[in-house]
Amino acid sequence: MTQPAPAPAPAPAFVYDRPKDAPLGPSPLLVALRDEKPVTRVSVWNGKLESWLVTRWEEAREVLGSPSLSTNPNHAGFPAVREGVRQRERGFFQMYDPPVHTAMRRTLTREFMVKKMDALRPAVARITTDLLDDLTKKSGPVDYVEHFALPLPSLVICALLGVPYEHHEFFQENSKPFVDLTATAEQVTEAYARLSAFLKELLAAKRANPGDDVVTRLGEQVDAGDITEQEAADLGALLLFAGHETTANMIALSTVTLLENPEQIPRLFGTPEELANAVEELLRYISVLHGGLRRVATEDLTIGDVTIRAGEGVIVPLSVVNRDPALFTDPDQLALDRSNARQHLAFGYGIHQCLGQPLARAELQIVLPEVFRRMPELKLAAPLDEITFKASSMVYGVQELPVTW
Ligand code: HEM
Repeated sequence: MTQPAPAPAPAPAFVYDRPKDAPLGPSPLLVALRDEKPVTRVSVWNGKLESWLVTRWEEAREVLGSPSLSTNPNHAGFPAVREGVRQRERGFFQMYDPPVHTAMRRTLTREFMVKKMDALRPAVARITTDLLDDLTKKSGPVDYVEHFALPLPSLVICALLGVPYEHHEFFQENSKPFVDLTATAEQVTEAYARLSAFLKELLAAKRANPGDDVVTRLGEQVDAGDITEQEAADLGALLLFAGHETTANMIALSTVTLLENPEQIPRLFGTPEELANAVEELLRYISVLHGGLRRVATEDLTIGDVTIRAGEGVIVPLSVVNRDPALFTDPDQLALDRSNARQHLAFGYGIHQCLGQPLARAELQIVLPEVFRRMPELKLAAPLDEITFKASSMVYGVQELPVTW
């Protein structure tokens, strides 16, 4: 008599916690899945939904570049970070497919052109100097996140958008629910509504009193009939949130990583090309947006040797993709002179690739050498295992970073 086939083992829960004893390393579960089966099944939302997980660089790039996959969370199979996430307004255009996505992204592309970013560099350098002047006047230990890593990108994005910095606590607080995995869908919706209302008020103020900033120019696009006022407010809110959260965590974690690999710090002081490469390697090594990029198939497609059916979700966890040994030699070693560091996918790939990447790169290239030039004796004021890392956040980081110099 033939035995019934055993029921397939339930898909493991998608967990991307970094190891406690190696907090800069990738999740051991994800590494094991990558090595065993690069396109496999995982579950999210306490087992309520299954999704595909793609953990190798080659296949990850294929997924992110595929027109058969959507970022629209309204599809039932979309493996959103939390249950109940829906598209909100067009301003949160990351959640839309073409042609809406294309039109919304186009309203902002010229704001991030290389020329604009080059023009912003002196302002970033000035903000860095001012913050370091204040920091070095204090007597340590000082929280590097509170006094440097968080205010720096917040001040920069305020300058770019034309947001008065006095509102920083408001927008920093209302950005947290987007990345905090313990926040409910309602908390996210409410935070978004508050940010968007704030931007609407600012748009009105800028139309009465224009400046040389992004919010003023969004107001002009409203006046020209290109976008609605709501869309302009939502675009501004997205930039305000996206513009400081990731970069702040990247500044703090890059500093920890360099302090853990002090022999590589001199590489920050090489040629501009060597510095740029060092920053790419830090982006690869840290993969700060570590919660996984999420997609849903709108038609059947094949990735690797697996057919993904229309309606099924896909998660791409960048922290293991960027350490794929098939592409990066000794992937768990930091090597600021790595020749192919630029091939990382830390800013994503395809049509949703990070819009703010020229700004993030400029900030990191200016900030990191300056920190170690001004504070050559910089060190952690607590052992690494006593630092609290952000375990339940889409964006990896540290809660606080006590330092002395
Ligand atoms: C180190 C810092 C940063 C990292 C690692 C990062 C990472 C990413 C990644 C991986 C995506 C793609 C998401 C996906 O495909 O689902 C993305 C999209 C995006 N990022 Fe960034 N980001 C950073 C800084 C910034 C900054 C400074 C801004 C704005 C000022 C920004 C604005 C955006 C926007 C608007 C999108 C959506 C693009 C689209 O859907 O077309 N990011 N970012």
